[in-house]
Amino acid sequence: MRAIIPVAGLGSRLRPHTYTLPKVLLSVAGKPILAHIIDKIIKEGITSATLVVGHMGDMIRSYLSASYPDFPIDYVEQEEHLGLGHAIYISSHTITSEPILIILGDTIFDVDLKPVLKGRESALGVKEVEDPRRFGVAETVDGYIVRLVEKPEKPLSHLAVVGLYYITNTALLVSSLRELVEKNIRTKNEYQLTDALQMMLDRGEKMKPFTVEGWYDCGKPDTLLSTNKALLETHARSKQLPGVILVDPVYVSPTAKLTNCVIGPYTTVGKDAVINESIVRNSIISEGARVHRAMLDNSIVGNGSVVKGNYKRINVGGSSEIDFY
Ligand code: UTP
Repeated sequence: MRAIIPVAGLGSRLRPHTYTLPKVLLSVAGKPILAHIIDKIIKEGITSATLVVGHMGDMIRSYLSASYPDFPIDYVEQEEHLGLGHAIYISSHTITSEPILIILGDTIFDVDLKPVLKGRESALGVKEVEDPRRFGVAETVDGYIVRLVEKPEKPLSHLAVVGLYYITNTALLVSSLRELVEKNIRTKNEYQLTDALQMMLDRGEKMKPFTVEGWYDCGKPDTLLSTNKALLETHARSKQLPGVILVDPVYVSPTAKLTNCVIGPYTTVGKDAVINESIVRNSIISEGARVHRAMLDNSIVGNGSVVKGNYKRINVGGSSEIDFY
């Protein structure tokens, strides 16, 4: 079975990191977001993929050809950011009569897909959320989805569509996407996949929801850090290093150089990063970054960046109170 993974977006909410690296190549818990997704789909039995690339697509191609040389990937170029529906539409030539799985490139998921991928009917991953207004929302009746609305102001359910779509009637998907584009049907100025799926429902397609509890969004700095934290929770304890206190869970690349520091909890230290005389927690220190004499919390330090702090000298008498915040 083939997966379609759209990764053409600008990742504007993750600037400045996405000025120099595409969002899907940012690392969480020791490897790029995209590597978490590809490793997972290979484990679930997916045998090929279509990657819709755009913004810094060449870096994505180079990364995948070096890291997954044996996994067959077709690349489709999305020159204009016209929405998820458009990204899938331009991939139509890679869709056959076999079912397909569509996965958003910035969402890591932890769910057993095997029962879903055996189904004869289409199925969409959903999760119950408190405030669904930022998401596509599914309304269900008798265990089937009857309506899908993109970012509704007054949602009629709490079921957010999480970015995992298993489609069995691929001919109907392709004709609905074509209609969307040919009739220029846009919502919030983009061709939405949700609108094409609603057309499919209107034409009698049956779609079931399936629950995805392990849904880790990586679209914004705070969700990237909370995803890093959640994934590190599942990591094995690290080997202690001389001169360094590692407060688990942490991921430290074997090629990182750490001296006189306290790292963790919930910290990823990428390849060739150098940290000395520092305390770093709840953070992502990317490949080749250097941190010297700094205290960092909830921070993301991009590839090759340098952060230098300082120690303060104080001479404080009795009954004093000092607050550096
Ligand atoms: P997002 O809506 O999160 O967009 O897309 P984005 O560009 O990545 O990020 P922001 O909003 O600018 O911060 C969800 C997924 O769909 C892909 C994105 O690359 C991302 O993996 N996508 C979205 C496309 O490939 N093409 C599109 O036209 C829209």
